[in-house]
Amino acid sequence: HFYGQSPPVYPSPPMTGTPSWAAANAKAVALVSQMTLEEKANITVGYTPRTGCSGETGTVPRLNWPGVCISDAGNGLRNTDFVNGWPSGIHVGASWNRNLAYQRALHMGGEFKTKGVHVALGPVVGPLGRVAQGGRNWEGFSNDPYLCGTLAGETVRGMQEAGVTAATKHYIANEQETNRNPFGDVEAFSANIDDKTLHELYLWPFANAVHAGAGSIMCSYNRVNNSYSCQNSKLLNGILKTELGFEGFVVSDWGAQHTGLSSATAGLDVAMPSSSFWGVDGGYLTQAVKNGSLAESRVTDMATRLVASWYQMGQDVGFPARGVGMPSIFYTPHPPVYARDPSSKQFLIDGALEGHVLVKNVNNALPLKKPKLLSIYGYDAPSPLEMNVGGLNDFIGGTWVYGYESVLGYIPFISGTAPPQIAFNGTIISGGGSGANSPAYISAPFDAIKEQAYQDDTSLFWDFMNVDPTVDTNTDACLVFINAFATEADDRAGLHDDYSDALIKNVASKCNNTIVTIHNAGIRLVDQWIEHPNITAVIFAHLPGQDSGRALIQLMYGQQSFSGKLPYTVAKNESAYTNGGKPSLPEGDYTLFPQSTFSEGVFIDYKYFDQKNIKPRYEFGFGLTYTTFSYSNLVIKKLDGVSTAPTPPPSPIIPGGIASLWDVVAQVTATITNTGNMTCSEVAQLYVRIPGGPLKQLRGFSKVGVPVGGTVTVEFDLMRRDLSTWDVASQGWVLQGGGYDLWVGASSRDLPLKGTLMI
Ligand code: NOJ
Repeated sequence: HFYGQSPPVYPSPPMTGTPSWAAANAKAVALVSQMTLEEKANITVGYTPRTGCSGETGTVPRLNWPGVCISDAGNGLRNTDFVNGWPSGIHVGASWNRNLAYQRALHMGGEFKTKGVHVALGPVVGPLGRVAQGGRNWEGFSNDPYLCGTLAGETVRGMQEAGVTAATKHYIANEQETNRNPFGDVEAFSANIDDKTLHELYLWPFANAVHAGAGSIMCSYNRVNNSYSCQNSKLLNGILKTELGFEGFVVSDWGAQHTGLSSATAGLDVAMPSSSFWGVDGGYLTQAVKNGSLAESRVTDMATRLVASWYQMGQDVGFPARGVGMPSIFYTPHPPVYARDPSSKQFLIDGALEGHVLVKNVNNALPLKKPKLLSIYGYDAPSPLEMNVGGLNDFIGGTWVYGYESVLGYIPFISGTAPPQIAFNGTIISGGGSGANSPAYISAPFDAIKEQAYQDDTSLFWDFMNVDPTVDTNTDACLVFINAFATEADDRAGLHDDYSDALIKNVASKCNNTIVTIHNAGIRLVDQWIEHPNITAVIFAHLPGQDSGRALIQLMYGQQSFSGKLPYTVAKNESAYTNGGKPSLPEGDYTLFPQSTFSEGVFIDYKYFDQKNIKPRYEFGFGLTYTTFSYSNLVIKKLDGVSTAPTPPPSPIIPGGIASLWDVVAQVTATITNTGNMTCSEVAQLYVRIPGGPLKQLRGFSKVGVPVGGTVTVEFDLMRRDLSTWDVASQGWVLQGGGYDLWVGASSRDLPLKGTLMI
């Protein structure tokens, strides 16, 4: 009964040249009209890159069209020198800061451009995070679609303003790494999603990306409703190119194309890294047109969409040669191309600072105050071991190498084999795989601690290797550093590991001021030890990029306040998550056609905890600062002239869907007062109960600095889409009339202000 759930939608809609794309469309049409069929087909397929680009399309030298370089990834340019290692998506999510997301993307985009990369393979909004153990959740921002979508929109805007096309990925429902690709006789898993859940959850952030002007979307490895994503006509022709009015090009994930004609007619535009189905030089595509199997207009549209994105980003003027200074093997001799801009420094450190989330702080443990003796424990404190190749990340010998990752196993693990959940050989600043980056350097926690110790005349003791280390009873504090590692192609083996938990408990048993820092590439559970009275502070440090240690120490010593909040829910145990946090496995009648049925609908993460009345350890949106805030003065205003009449007429379709979905229909304000002793930033959050929907859904957030004793007003704009539900029968968004409960506060469960919006 799983079959036939993905209806056919043909023909593939050609690019329309909607106002925001009209100029680029006109130029592309003019150029592509001069191309022969062979030339058009040739630019739709990838070639073995002659540079360090992840992929390169064909070129049309006769018309001076240079083809494009396409490279990983959303957290920084990978596999080259003279670039920065930026905070990962999860860290940006934990920052809840729109402008910082935008600035990061703008500066990252500048690095891609300097290296002649036309298309950046990011941001990631799928996986969204349905599977808590998902190996790539850290590449994206949050498992909440509103937070994720908002930050994805800022990222696309920033990258593209720098002149680089952002390929938002992976479309769609690439929620697990297990069985992500076909293997032997076994097909890739099928994400079985109903229409309402698709629209309200998994598609949501893609709509933000398209609305922000996305020039590209990458279709994913998995199947959706039993049809491969890169040949799924409902998803590509129907939802992306018709409903969302997407004007850019669809690029396949690497090797995600599984047919020739079907993928072409379903809406795939560019096949990477090469195509055995469309043929070398696109020869089979040409043949299909010549023998009448495929309309030439489809090939013309593929080429037009690709070339239009190139014009749209201004790449026709003064764009560096593709992959310049980026040889495929970075250590072969090459002229240096310096892509790091000095003005990026501030955003690297701010980005690193703001994604740290403080969840426990008792007995005034933090900030630290000129300690006389500090004891440092745990494999995650030092820099990735110096014997390793520093920094640069590459795919060597079939293994993703990312600094420390390459030496897993070189160091004898004291008590047997290192648990697969952790990276044992030094601190982590990103996860592994194509979303890892190539940091210019790594500031590890221990590096920064040593600097601070010099300033303060603090003595240090350290032991990074023993699971039951000694503790000098004169120590002021014991800092324990652990991590939770994740990498592409694998789902995580669990949400906590026994080794790290034992280390923390052993230190805490001897040290009454134990402070735990976790560099976590995804959700990490803490219930094995969180209530231990000697554990006085706990930090989810996420994946801060190259300024990791420097940022952490500024926070720990109170030179800066913590200001991050959790972009996911931390449960007390695994069973509180969908499917226990685990990926689906091939089973039952479908071992050759693995099924992953999203029967929980939109109820993932905090919506699920609310629905099932499960008390989390730390709720979505939670995080401490060094001060306290009070909330008051909630004002809710419906804008004039808002009607519940169904969209569209007369609203046109723009990139992102029906234009009126993006209209502001209501405004909410509240005031926040800093009632403590330090100037800090607060992330105010707005949640709404849409009639018939989950108890509450995030629909606004605002991060503001509030001086001591000061009061700041925060504003939230609610768009029509923010209050609408997807109506399967009418195949449209519906804004219901009636009362909408609404809350404003500091987290999803700390909501002091409540009111009702009448629509
Ligand atoms: C496969 C990954 O899924 C994708 O995210 C990446 O961009 C490509 N490989 C290219 O490296």
